[in-house]
Amino acid sequence: MEAVCRLTAALLALTALSQAQPVKFHDCGSKAEQIIVDVTPCPTLPCVLHKGQNYSVNVTFTSTTSSQTSEAVVHGILAGLPIPFHISNSDGCKSGIQCPIRKMQKYNYINSFPIKDAYPSVELEVKWELKDDDKNDIFCWVIPVKISS
Ligand SMILES: *[C@@H]1O[C@H](CO)[C@@H](O)[C@H](O)[C@H]1NC(C)=O
Ligand SMILES: *[C@@H]1O[C@H](CO)[C@@H](O)[C@H](O)[C@H]1NC(C)=O
Repeated sequence: MEAVCRLTAALLALTALSQAQPVKFHDCGSKAEQIIVDVTPCPTLPCVLHKGQNYSVNVTFTSTTSSQTSEAVVHGILAGLPIPFHISNSDGCKSGIQCPIRKMQKYNYINSFPIKDAYPSVELEVKWELKDDDKNDIFCWVIPVKISS
């Protein structure tokens, strides 16, 4: 019995490690509903992002609008100042979303970003927007991160 318990505990721990944990985010004007933001790996806030590593983002949302296109816009906010952050693939329709986006349909936006060695070791906020045809935010969220060596 004890062995079984231990095995179960070990398995649960493994599952917790491999499963993405939703990140508590600040909403900055999303039109979509039921938004869940997963950043992997980011077990606690601020997300500690290590240089030379690759992080993945998985945003689950239910759209309240329809749109032919979707474009991701990412900023780092340092001391209140938004700095554009280049992501290699800004086309939401090539990031797990099958376009056109339809009303009341559920989507997963999937992307990843590398933390380059050249980045400064600072604490900042990351603002991630996905814009529709009319440049309105399908989603907009902000999370605190800490870039570390
Ligand atoms: C980061 O991870 C994603 C998905 O795991 C992969 O497609 C991408 O090529 C990786 N990028 C880098 C720079 O390692
Ligand atoms: C994204 O998250 C959803 C909901 O948690 C999950 O079903 C899906 O498998 C995830 N996709 C990836 C690529 O991680």
